[in-house]
Amino acid sequence: MKLPTRLIHNRKGNPERRTVNPPVERASTVILPDRQTLYGGGTGYGRMGLSVHRELEAALCDIEGASHARLTPSGLSACAVGIASVVKAGDHVLLSDSVYGPTRRFCEKRLPLMGVSATRFNPRDTSALEKAITPETRLIVLESPGSLTFEISDTPAIVEIAKSAGVLTLMDNTWSAGVFHQPLDLGVDISVQALTKYMVGHADAFGGAVMTRDKAHAHAVETLTEDWGISLGPDDAYAGLRGTRTLSTRLKAHEASALELARWLGGQDDVGLVIHPALPNHPDHETWKRDFSGSSGLFAILLDAPEEAHIDAFLSALDLFKLGFSWGGFESLIIPCDEQLTRLPEDWTQSRRGRLVRLHAGLEDTGDLIADLERGLRALHDVKNT
Ligand SMILES: Cc1ncc(COP(=O)(O)O)c(C=O)c1O
Repeated sequence: MKLPTRLIHNRKGNPERRTVNPPVERASTVILPDRQTLYGGGTGYGRMGLSVHRELEAALCDIEGASHARLTPSGLSACAVGIASVVKAGDHVLLSDSVYGPTRRFCEKRLPLMGVSATRFNPRDTSALEKAITPETRLIVLESPGSLTFEISDTPAIVEIAKSAGVLTLMDNTWSAGVFHQPLDLGVDISVQALTKYMVGHADAFGGAVMTRDKAHAHAVETLTEDWGISLGPDDAYAGLRGTRTLSTRLKAHEASALELARWLGGQDDVGLVIHPALPNHPDHETWKRDFSGSSGLFAILLDAPEEAHIDAFLSALDLFKLGFSWGGFESLIIPCDEQLTRLPEDWTQSRRGRLVRLHAGLEDTGDLIADLERGLRALHDVKNT
């Protein structure tokens, strides 16, 4: 059976259960039958997760081709747990310059307090990566496509370099939701996702997951979450599990709409560049075609809006595209990104022309979304010509 079918029919647990999803068990205390079970390990306390958690973990393993999945309360905590689980004082972490900002902050500000150093590499320069590896390097952190700027990493090449140097790799795979890209198949050691985005799909819950095929890494993640007391609440786990049922179908709709918007935007006067890896003009398009089976709803443009008043006119003329952080939900979102972009001096973003704007294509009618963007572009044009 194909993934969409499996995600609908993978119900586990009590064979007498008649509901299509498991009931949400809200519990700290779990009543156990005897002393042996009390101290026998397993699900003896709510923090270790209950039936909804187990079912969500199984679905995530299926999606990512993993053998182990561990849930965390947010995407950022999944990144932090995945990274912290494999490093110790004295180690060095190399992170792609395009990773999600708060993950970068965790590596550059938090890890040093734990005796771990972190430096960045340009995701488009694999040879520079090779030179940046030191004897202390323990982990390479990737995100493909990169947050905000959508670089696709040459993951097989990076994995080969990492393996020959005895270095582990971790990838934030949130953009593809695991449906369009399986980093573990490409040799990546640990894949993480913010379930908050496509898995939940309705912008109303948080969640994260750390996934691997390696027993030792799985054990390291498990003990770290237990030592730090990290767990995902049952209601958020339920929202994640429910989201898996419709994930593949929703992603196809996000993909189709985003592509139509991207192509349309490419023909508009004040749009300098559309940055979408599934478009042939994207510099990493061939790598994307090789390693991904589809694209999601998130992409960016460079907008010719040099003055603050220009971008403000564009944004305030929009009605359907809402201004808000996050993505992956049913609703279309837009954010100007220059405010949160800090990059290496040699990065292409330093020499670009235009304001970086990220769009998430929601599940509204695509024609309505185009009409909305047309309104925004008209307002931009008018304010530039007054
Ligand atoms: C690529 C990526 N990874 C991780 C996260 C963090 O997810 P959360 O907001 O659930 O902590 C985000 C959030 O925007 C993200 O875009």
